[in-house]
Amino acid sequence: MRTLNTVIFPVAGLGTRMLPATKVMPKELLPVYDTPLLQFAIDEALAAGAKRIVLVSHPDKPAIAEYFRHDAALEATLAEKGKHDLLAAVEASNLPEGVDLHIVMQHEQLGLGHAVLCGADYAGDGPVGVILPDDLILGAPCLAEMTAAYDPETMNSLVAAQQVAPQHVSRYGIFDCDESVRDDALPCARFVEKPDPSVAPSRLAAVGRYILDQSVFDILRGTGRGAGGEIQLTDAIADMGGIHAFRFSGTRHDCGSKDGLVEATLAVQKMRKRAHLSVAAK
Ligand code: G1P
Repeated sequence: MRTLNTVIFPVAGLGTRMLPATKVMPKELLPVYDTPLLQFAIDEALAAGAKRIVLVSHPDKPAIAEYFRHDAALEATLAEKGKHDLLAAVEASNLPEGVDLHIVMQHEQLGLGHAVLCGADYAGDGPVGVILPDDLILGAPCLAEMTAAYDPETMNSLVAAQQVAPQHVSRYGIFDCDESVRDDALPCARFVEKPDPSVAPSRLAAVGRYILDQSVFDILRGTGRGAGGEIQLTDAIADMGGIHAFRFSGTRHDCGSKDGLVEATLAVQKMRKRAHLSVAAK
């Protein structure tokens, strides 16, 4: 089975859309029912075989590093009190043995492309994954599906994609590809960041999961400012050529919006209740 060694998580954003909830708490640590949003993203990277987690954070978000600190005292207290379920939940938030964590700072908000470039020194060899934790994907683990479908011989990138409403295309990277292809990985001729609906090549939009060839870092070093005056990952992917969009099978929730976070919370509540019932039935 193919695996991805490194996954980069851009988490430097200041979460202004969620203020005041994010005044102290990074948006990536807001709970989705019982688990911080970031934990879902980490678990998805581990399911794809990641051995190196690279968080591109901001100095004003110290809680992100704190979350990954192994809290032996808390675990000992839970064990002593016999709170086994809670202990298991806390232990599941520790990175497994053999997985390295690197936290690098993005001091200036220059765009997603710049954030990914900030992780370059820790990217190792081979294709690199990128997860935007705001896009929570429940159901089948998306990055693992993509890792299985990624072919380094024919692809320079593989980006998760889904159809969006015509009035929403200007919020996303939009693909120009032959959507009649039956395969899950569609070769694309173009990839355009946040186009005006009148010129958008399609309604097939990028969702925050990427597998990228290492050459993306060199391209990003020369990528100028694009849509919104920011250094766009989409522009670097378009420059690399060999673009592929991936039809994933899970369900995406936009947790960068308040309503999306509520919907995700209800979906996870349902998942947990179902799991609880099936354990109780055994
Ligand atoms: C980013 C990407 C965009 C992608 C989107 C998915 O935009 O730049 O191409 O479609 O994530 O969530 P942002 O949401 O950071 O503006």
